[in-house]
Amino acid sequence: MSVKAPSATTSRSGPAGSADPPGAQRLVVADVAFTLKAGQGLGVIGPSASGKSSLARVIVGVWPPVRGKVRLDGAALDQWPDEELGRHLGYLPQDVELFAGTVAENIARFEPEPDGEAVIAAGRAAGVHDLVLRLPGGYETQIGEAGTLLSAGQRQRIALARALYRDPFLVVLDEPNSNLDGEGEQALTGAITGVRERGGIVVVIAHRPSALAGVDHVLVMADGRAQAFGPKDEILSKLMRPQAAPAAAVGPGGATSTALRVVGDAQG
Ligand SMILES: Nc1ncnc2c1ncn2[C@@H]1O[C@H](COP(=O)(O)OP(=O)(O)O)[C@@H](O)[C@H]1O
Ligand SMILES: [Mg+2]
Repeated sequence: MSVKAPSATTSRSGPAGSADPPGAQRLVVADVAFTLKAGQGLGVIGPSASGKSSLARVIVGVWPPVRGKVRLDGAALDQWPDEELGRHLGYLPQDVELFAGTVAENIARFEPEPDGEAVIAAGRAAGVHDLVLRLPGGYETQIGEAGTLLSAGQRQRIALARALYRDPFLVVLDEPNSNLDGEGEQALTGAITGVRERGGIVVVIAHRPSALAGVDHVLVMADGRAQAFGPKDEILSKLMRPQAAPAAAVGPGGATSTALRVVGDAQG
């Protein structure tokens, strides 16, 4: 079936329900529900193994949810034709995977007919344009098997450009700053702000607070469940308050995860 492309104002993204890795015996994420509108940015925080990466995989459709739906502009991910969906999604996985080929080919996802201007635009959006130009062959530099000729930080920044290629509507970045220096972190914040300014939605999984600089909403995960969701300042100040209740009880309106469900816009 064919579904209209996300528009700038009515788009909605929200995983609701549960998910598990294919073949797994138990749920690794449950009871997560939220809605984001065009132009918003969500930071996802929480300890290791709290389900952040699993949630990211469900949001981009790598793992199908067992219960509930992830909707983009009202249409569930599985209602989108693969090709069309791919155009609207940009994903930087936690374990960056680059492939033998040039920087440009990697940014353009090895499309048969890459758009050179879009490659450079993605490089600029990711703040890696100058870094790429300093490589021996610029965008035509061969990066070696799995990108081994680059440093970990360079790989992560080029993978960020790949996630931004052709301005996807929804951009999901899983720990995009784990290998970055100060310059890289600034570039990342610029990239996050850029997606929001052009009316996209960005979800950033953050293991360091610096990655939250460009977002306006925060989701706190613990034990595979959403503990809190809301405006960044509100959520962070609750977390900082020394007398604050334990994380499990922090949440707008109460301790149950249903209080996290935010139904803001029409489902289209
Ligand atoms: N492919 C997988 N198969 C089975 N279990 C997995 C898989 N990936 C993650 N998990 C489990 O899901 C839980 C959440 O992991 P993950 O989403 O990677 O957490 P985080 O990103 O917050 O560190 C962990 O208990 C982890 O062991
Ligand atoms: Mg993770």
